[in-house]
Amino acid sequence: MPKITLNGREIEFPPGQTVMLAARGLGIDIPHYCWHPALSVVGSCRMCQVEVHGPGPKRLTTACNLPCVDGMVIVTESPAVARARAGVLEDLLLNHPLDCPICDKAGECWLQDYAYEYGAAVGRNDFPRRKWNKRVDIAEHVLLDQERCILCTRCVRFLDEYAGKAELAVLGRGAHSVIDIFPGMKVSSGYQGNLADICPVGALTLKEFRFQTRVWYLEGTDSVCPSCSRGCSITLDVRDNAVRRVRPRVNPEVNGHFMCDVGRFGLLKAYQPAERLAGARLQGEAVDLAQAARAAAEGMTQAARAGGGVLVLASPDATNEELFLLKKVLLEAAALRGRVTLAFRQVAEEGGDGILQTGQNAGNVAGLRAQGYEELDAGALAARLGAASALYLLDEGLARLDVEPELLIVHAMRSALAARAGVVLPGSTIAEKEGTLTNCDGVTQRIRPALRPPATVAGDFNCLLALGRELGASGLPRTPGEAFIAWADASGERGGLTLAALPQNGIRLAAAAKEAQS
Ligand code: FES
Repeated sequence: MPKITLNGREIEFPPGQTVMLAARGLGIDIPHYCWHPALSVVGSCRMCQVEVHGPGPKRLTTACNLPCVDGMVIVTESPAVARARAGVLEDLLLNHPLDCPICDKAGECWLQDYAYEYGAAVGRNDFPRRKWNKRVDIAEHVLLDQERCILCTRCVRFLDEYAGKAELAVLGRGAHSVIDIFPGMKVSSGYQGNLADICPVGALTLKEFRFQTRVWYLEGTDSVCPSCSRGCSITLDVRDNAVRRVRPRVNPEVNGHFMCDVGRFGLLKAYQPAERLAGARLQGEAVDLAQAARAAAEGMTQAARAGGGVLVLASPDATNEELFLLKKVLLEAAALRGRVTLAFRQVAEEGGDGILQTGQNAGNVAGLRAQGYEELDAGALAARLGAASALYLLDEGLARLDVEPELLIVHAMRSALAARAGVVLPGSTIAEKEGTLTNCDGVTQRIRPALRPPATVAGDFNCLLALGRELGASGLPRTPGEAFIAWADASGERGGLTLAALPQNGIRLAAAAKEAQS
């Protein structure tokens, strides 16, 4: 294999690899603006300059579009490199407004970061800065500040190359160049939220996030988007127990670098329900969890004794650990033996966009199927609902119920059906849970609690534990971590893993277990 020497280290490289990628492979981050790992390379910002010491004469050049050549010697940090970067920064900042005190990008702006590292302490401008348009309404969720833009064209390339809609362009020439929409048109892409993520400066900002908070007050928690069966890896940025921003997390196994707007903006609302049930209820009266769980257990036991069936409809957004516990609690209860049907309503797969959205709008259908829950289409669901004496609903998505079972038990965060339920167990949002979800490609990823539920809300896992206690179950996993081990062991797919040790990008459990055995 051919080799290059990078900062004194000799490394091999595959054919066609650029110096930028070779450096990143060694953990060396070369400053850059226009380069993005998921977009075409244009080499326009000139920030990624490095020193080439041969072959050929010693020279400065850009690393992002420089192919490695056998015997090449590269230095990424030197006085000459620092001078070159300082010059690029001076040019980029020549007309940049002094907006940092009010700019949403402050704290994660690459102009700030590199100016701090390489820039001059004072500006040499003795002329007024150029004025461009600010707060240009270019899309439903995105505003453009043309004065802040450094023309890296990441946004233009993203829409054209990834989202499949060339809805932004560089208009004008030379000093008059500016990013803009086409006359009379706006950006309509369903992936427009990513524009704010990939903009390295504060030129593209989200309307939903503008002036919400300074970014250094945010606490990020790794999670998974449950909006469709893709299960994009995301980060929930939280301040004061409220999700302020949802961002994609890089995961080559699932979503690459991006996420769709349905997930991003839908979750913002879903995690902050204005109306939510604040505790357990029995016949409409507030009770404690143990009372509600006892009533649920007694009601189901009576229905079973009378020869009736208990239909359990699990949520296609429930975690694998909740599904395991639900199964264990209800199938192993002696009083309910042979009377319980575990099922879920079929979630149609239609309208996927060929990018990330699968069209199957639920987060853990694969988990339900893997654990043997019966998938009911509309006809089968109606028939089962009609035949059930007791209905146990762990499904917020079932908005209508055209039958009147003798007993209705609802795990609810804000279910419309809670008002009709005899027993309400206080459930939680995915942002409050610990556990795993399995996506359409079999990748199991971990979710962590980003928000604290109200003190009176036990959450779905604890509600199931309380129910298990009332039904006399023993040996139940006490935490999602224990449930993960029990579930993965039962399916023969654990391969020695624990919930805490799950890789950040998730894992295909069956494949990992096979590998562990071999
Ligand atoms: Fe290389 Fe912009 S990152 S020129």
